Amino acid sequence: MFKFNDENQVQKILAKYPAERKKSAVMPLLDLAQRQNANWISKDVISCISEILEMPEIKVYEVASFYTMYNLKPVGKYLLQFCRTTPCMLRGIDQIIKDCKEKLGIEMDATTIDGLFTLKEVECLGACVNAPIVQINDDFAEDLTSENFLKILDELKAGKAFKVGSQTGRQCSAA
Ligand code: FES
Repeated sequence: MFKFNDENQVQKILAKYPAERKKSAVMPLLDLAQRQNANWISKDVISCISEILEMPEIKVYEVASFYTMYNLKPVGKYLLQFCRTTPCMLRGIDQIIKDCKEKLGIEMDATTIDGLFTLKEVECLGACVNAPIVQINDDFAEDLTSENFLKILDELKAGKAFKVGSQTGRQCSAA
């Protein structure tokens, strides 16, 4: 049975909403739970939040299943979310996806057998100016090419941190 590992954090979130509208806390609670549950929302998590917020489990599930930021099945240590909306497509995300699948030997929505990487396609990540973009857990890798992205995979495999943001050295979105 899932339980939040720090009741204070839950109370802090609930305190942001009027008591009679505590259902509004469903999204931050799902986010917190996911971080404490190996990055995914299990049935136990849904039940726990449903109990805290006194809302039907199906309502919690409806929110969790609407947003791609909630994972409804287990994912790898690194969740790689590839943006496939037009600017990223025009800037070469398809080739990066192809090379990544080839290197890791898995298809989209799958996880490598070592449990390190899960691949997922998502819509615009809101950073089109530095396209193409891959979100790696909470961070963005920007201005990608196959070459610099495959290097990031090697770094993560070796247990190193990757450089967040532009991979070509530009500052923020400067030309
Ligand atoms: S199109 Fe990829 S970040 Fe917007």
